[in-house]
Amino acid sequence: MKASAIIVAAGSGRRLGCDLPKAFVPLGGHPMLYYAIRAVAAVKDVTEAVITLPAEMLSEGRSVVRGTGVDIPVKLTPGGAERQDSVRIALELVSAESDVVVVHDAARPFASPRLFEESIRAAYLAGGAIAAIPVSDTLKQVDGNAIVATAPRIGLYCAQTPQAFRRELLMRAHRDASRDGIAATDDAELVERTGARVAIVDGSSLNFKITTRDDLALAQALIAAGLPT
Ligand code: CTP
Ligand code: MG
Repeated sequence: MKASAIIVAAGSGRRLGCDLPKAFVPLGGHPMLYYAIRAVAAVKDVTEAVITLPAEMLSEGRSVVRGTGVDIPVKLTPGGAERQDSVRIALELVSAESDVVVVHDAARPFASPRLFEESIRAAYLAGGAIAAIPVSDTLKQVDGNAIVATAPRIGLYCAQTPQAFRRELLMRAHRDASRDGIAATDDAELVERTGARVAIVDGSSLNFKITTRDDLALAQALIAAGLPT
């Protein structure tokens, strides 16, 4: 079984508000993107990676890849306007020999190689599989600043990446979404629309997405405390 990894890193990081695009913001002595590249390259079944980048960061991206010392082939491409566009563009560059494609956010530097392995394996069997964690807080529906309802959290999960799918299923899901004008914030939603089964594998609260300055500060502290990456 062969898998290709897509690392989406083309966002600007507006909510983080740094001078550099988010994937290039330093974290523990490396650009954030470094960690996702190292994690996917450590997975035996992953034979190549495709990385989406802001158009002006392609040569910077190449030097980040070089700095990782990984030995799988890595293709770099400018991303699109939205995350979904970036994944669609990257999919065009994925080898037709791959059985499974695993999509991962560069903004999640703490995803373990094992989490990739589990999602790839489950996708190969089920069609699709994503890392997710159960919702642990109580959910409130709010209007203005007042609560209007409490939503039952039973059965609710927070979706993370990696998200792995059989290659042809993910390609079809993106084609259908383009045809139907559907915009989604993750790939699983597009695959769910096709009627295919998408399984859950156990994500981790450490696999959080760096979105705000607080997230970045937490990530820095975790690395300083010796969290393995
Ligand atoms: N991404 C991408 N192409 C886009 C938008 C996002 O490849 N057009 C990537 C980001 O680089 C990130 C991942 O998708 O690794 C998740 O997106 P998000 O956390 O929203 O990152 P940004 O879009 O960069 O952040 P913001 O929304 O705050 O601008
Ligand atoms: Mg975004």
